[in-house]
Amino acid sequence: MTTDASTSHLSNVWFQVTGLDVASGDGSWVTTVDGTRYLDFTGGIAVTSTGHSHPAVVDAISRQATRFIHAQANCYRHDLLEPLATALNEITPPSIDTFFYANSGAEITEAAIKLAKQATGRPNTIVFNGSFHGRTHQTMAMTTSKTVYRAGHAPLPGGVHIAPFPAPYTPDPNAAIDDAVAGFEQLLATVTAPSETAAAILEPVLGEGGYHQAPPAFVQRVADICRTHGILFIADEVQSGFGRTGKMFAIDHTGVEPDIICMAKGIASGFPFAALGTRRELDDLWPTGSHGGTYGGNPIGCAAALATIDIITSDGFLDNVNERGAQLLAGLRELAQAFPQLTNVRGVGMMIACDLNTAEVNTAVREHCLSKGRLLLMSAGTAGTTLRWMPPLTVTADEIDQALVAFGAALGSL
Ligand SMILES: Cc1ncc(COP(=O)(O)O)c(C=O)c1O
Repeated sequence: MTTDASTSHLSNVWFQVTGLDVASGDGSWVTTVDGTRYLDFTGGIAVTSTGHSHPAVVDAISRQATRFIHAQANCYRHDLLEPLATALNEITPPSIDTFFYANSGAEITEAAIKLAKQATGRPNTIVFNGSFHGRTHQTMAMTTSKTVYRAGHAPLPGGVHIAPFPAPYTPDPNAAIDDAVAGFEQLLATVTAPSETAAAILEPVLGEGGYHQAPPAFVQRVADICRTHGILFIADEVQSGFGRTGKMFAIDHTGVEPDIICMAKGIASGFPFAALGTRRELDDLWPTGSHGGTYGGNPIGCAAALATIDIITSDGFLDNVNERGAQLLAGLRELAQAFPQLTNVRGVGMMIACDLNTAEVNTAVREHCLSKGRLLLMSAGTAGTTLRWMPPLTVTADEIDQALVAFGAALGSL
């Protein structure tokens, strides 16, 4: 069922993936207002880490709502701020021990840049080609995954410089890493001197840019160069964090310890919440009062995040992410044998993607999955050919099988 556009009072600025009007969600499923159930492999854009309305998250939110809905962080400190920081301290890389809260991914990546500028006294930022960091003016300036996010919004803030991301699918992956590192060094030698560069911000797995994992050797080399020059290394884990890649954070696959880590999406199972993690010495250089926000650290968000972290750190949770991810990858690779339109099956944990040969085929496959298979999928990447698979991390083996059957039928209908 879809809303009649001619009678709607809603903005059209939101693009629509499915056009469905949904009434409820449970686990990997959403139910529309007319009672039809759909398998939701969009995960609300990789947000529903514990599934839709996990009972423990619902319970934590409900209990907290009766205690406090809004306890503004400048006015007083509520009793979940510190416990959440302690919980985050336990799961983030060892370099991270101090936390700031906000409400969305863009807010937290922008906060990371503000902190980096204050802590270093330097003006510029380096981003990597194909990245997505948000839709505020600063984060649009940092985003190069598609022109649609930037077009019509100029002038964007200056001081953002774009380094190459290693080319995927090359016959010589090591040469691709060398080339990208050389591009990073070239930028420091010709455009933004180290003494002018506050930070480099990297998605350890490009999200909107097409689900390409940054090779660990590349991340290590960039982080080393940053350390040599006193440039802060920021991991944008807004999409890849909280178990999505089968480890708690995607940066954990590289051994690199970032100076700042940006978290949102999966952190609170869908309640709007974001966190920045850094080191106490850097945080001490962030002048008190120079950043903040009315809603950051909302008590219901903290309760949802604490409940989410409890679930994600429970025994066997990440094993399920890795096992279901392997099952999905194997199924997609089998389909790629049968359907030449399907290529580049890739992924880590449950951050999985594949390419269709054209954007039109991608759309046709998604529409068939939606209308016949009752399966919700999203695209990604610049060319519109990438399909991404980002179900809840609680997805079952049976649900993966159902999704593969629906996808196979869509490919068969081409
Ligand atoms: C890596 C990354 N950073 C930042 C953002 C922005 O997050 P939000 O949409 O919550 O502002 C996103 C959103 O997709 C993202 O994937």
